Amino acid sequence: MKLCIILFLVNFSAAADILAFMVIPGLSHHRGLSPIFEELAVEGHNVTVVTAFPREKPLKNFNEIDISNFTTMHFDSIRKYFPKPFPEMYQIEIILGLFHNINDVLDKILEVESVRNAIRSKYDVILVENITPLTYVAGIMNRAPIIILSPAPGWLGGHDALGNPTHPVLTPNFVLGIEGNPSFFDRLRSTTFNILWRTLYTYYDLPRCDKIARKHFGENIPSLAEVQKNTSLALFTHNFVANSIKPTVPAVVDINLIHIKAKKPLPNDIQEFMDKSKRGVVYFSLGTYELTYNTTEHRMSIIREALMSLPYDVLWKYHIDEDMPCNIMVKRWFPQHDVLGHPKLKVFVTQGGANSIEQAIYETVPMVMLPVQGDQGQNAKKMVSMGMAEMLDIFTMTKKDLTKTITQVAESQKYKDSAIKQSKILKDQPMKGVKKAVWWVEYVIRHKGAPHLRSGFLDMPFYQYYLLDVMGFFLLCFFLIMVVFYKMLTYVLSLKKIMCTKKIKSQ
Ligand SMILES: *[C@@H]1O[C@H](CO)[C@@H](O)[C@H](O)[C@H]1NC(C)=O
Ligand SMILES: *[C@@H]1O[C@H](CO)[C@@H](O)[C@H](O)[C@H]1NC(C)=O
Ligand SMILES: *[C@@H]1O[C@H](CO)[C@@H](O)[C@H](O)[C@H]1NC(C)=O
Ligand SMILES: *[C@@H]1O[C@H](CO)[C@@H](O)[C@H](O)[C@H]1NC(C)=O
Repeated sequence: MKLCIILFLVNFSAAADILAFMVIPGLSHHRGLSPIFEELAVEGHNVTVVTAFPREKPLKNFNEIDISNFTTMHFDSIRKYFPKPFPEMYQIEIILGLFHNINDVLDKILEVESVRNAIRSKYDVILVENITPLTYVAGIMNRAPIIILSPAPGWLGGHDALGNPTHPVLTPNFVLGIEGNPSFFDRLRSTTFNILWRTLYTYYDLPRCDKIARKHFGENIPSLAEVQKNTSLALFTHNFVANSIKPTVPAVVDINLIHIKAKKPLPNDIQEFMDKSKRGVVYFSLGTYELTYNTTEHRMSIIREALMSLPYDVLWKYHIDEDMPCNIMVKRWFPQHDVLGHPKLKVFVTQGGANSIEQAIYETVPMVMLPVQGDQGQNAKKMVSMGMAEMLDIFTMTKKDLTKTITQVAESQKYKDSAIKQSKILKDQPMKGVKKAVWWVEYVIRHKGAPHLRSGFLDMPFYQYYLLDVMGFFLLCFFLIMVVFYKMLTYVLSLKKIMCTKKIKSQ
C-alpha cells in the first residue's frame, strides 16, 4: 500500500502540463507531428493540443481544442497567396506569401475563446509549430520553455532562433528546390533568398505579428522576438536519405519516421484488387494538397489517358466518380502506408511530400516524382540522386513521358535495389522517432529549458559571426602592403630615372 502511494506520487510529480499549438490545418503537418503529442499523453503527461484534426476516439490525458472549422479558410488563403506553383513565382512573392497566408488565418483562430483560454493557462513546456513567429503567441502568458517543431527540415526563422548555421550552399532553403551541386545561379538565388527572408522577417513579419498578438492580448505582453529568444529546442523532421546533409547545433534535433505506425490490414476491396493483380500495381496520388492548385482539365486528361494505357493495375487517389476500366480503382482516399507495403506494389507516383517519401523509402517502393510546391522539388531531386526514383515536370509532361517513365521504373530492377538499400539506412537508428522526440521534450521539462545548449551565435553581432571585421582587417593589411609596395616601386623607378639623367648628363 505504502509503495503504491509512493509510486503514485513519483508518477504524479513527473507528469507535466504540456501545450501543443498546432495551427496549420494541413493533414501532412498533423500526421508528421501529432504522434509525438499522443505518445506524451500515453507517458502520463497532461497534454492540451490545439488541432484541426481531433481524434476519433478520446485518449486519456489528451485534451483537444478543435479548430477544424478553419480548414476552408486556410486553403482559400493558400490559393490567394500562392496562385502559381513556386518555380513560377518571384522569391519576394513566395516569402510574403509564406508570411501572410498563415497569419491571416491565425489572426482569426486567436478570436476563438477556447484557444484564448488555452494560451492563458499554465504549462511546463509549450510546443509550437515553426511556421510563423505568430505561433510564439502561445508563450506570451507564462514563462514556460518553448520547443519548436516542423514536419519539414525547419524554416530559416527556426534555425536562427537557435543559432543553427544555415549555409546557403549546404542547406539551401527547401522551397528553392536546390539539391546536390548547385550552379552559380542557384548559389546566387539561395544567398539572395536568405538575405531577403531575414530582412523581411525582422523588419516586416515580426512587427506585423506583434501587432496581431497585441490586438488580441493587449499592449502589455512581451514581444514575440523576446519569446522567440527563449526557444529551448527544435524538433525538425529530417533524415539522411531524403534530405541534404547539414551541420546542426545540439539544440536542433532531427526526428523522422514519426508517422510510421504498425501496418493494418487493407480494406477488402483494395486487398482483393491488389492480390489478384498479374503485372503489379501502380499507386498514383498527388497528396493532400492536390486541390490547392487548379489542376487543369488538359493536365488531368493527360494523366487519365496515361494511367489507362499502362499495362499494370492502378490505384488512383482522385476526386471523380466516373466509370473506369477494370484495371483502375479510383478513390478519394487510400490507406497509403498499407498500400505501399503490399508486395504487388511496383511504383508510387507522387508529388513528393516528406511523409510520402519516408513511407516509400520505408516500404522500399521506387517512385516517379511530380513535384509541385513546398519542399517537393528538393525531395524529388534527392530521391533521383539516390537512384530510387525518376522525376517529371507535371506542367509540361506528355502522356508518353508519363507512361514511359512509369514503365521504366516498374521494369528496371535498379530502382528497387536502391530502394532496399536506402530503406536499410533509414531504419538503422538507435531509437524510434517518436520515442526520441518524447525523450527530448522530457529533457527540456526536467531541466526547465535548455540554456546550456544555447549557441554562442545568438549573443554575437552578425558582423562578428560572418567575420566581417576579420576580413576587413585582412583587406586593410593587403591595402597597406600594396601601398608600401607601390611607394617602393615608384622610389626605385625615380632613382633609376635620376641615375639615367646623370648618366646622360655625364656623357
Ligand atoms: C490538464 O491541463 C488542462 C489545461 O491546462 C487543465 O485544465 C486541466 O486541469 C489539467 N488536468 C490535470 C489533471 O492536471
Ligand atoms: C469555428 O468555431 C468557433 C467556435 O468553436 C468559432 O468561434 C469560430 O468563429 C468558427 N470559425 C469559423 C471560421 O467558422
Ligand atoms: C525568458 O526566460 C527567462 C529565463 O527563464 C525569463 O526570465 C523571461 O521572462 C522569459 N521571457 C519571456 C518573454 O518569456
Ligand atoms: C479554380 O477553379 C475554380 C472553378 O473552375 C475557380 O472558381 C477558381 O477561381 C480557380 N482558382 C484559381 C486559383 O485559379
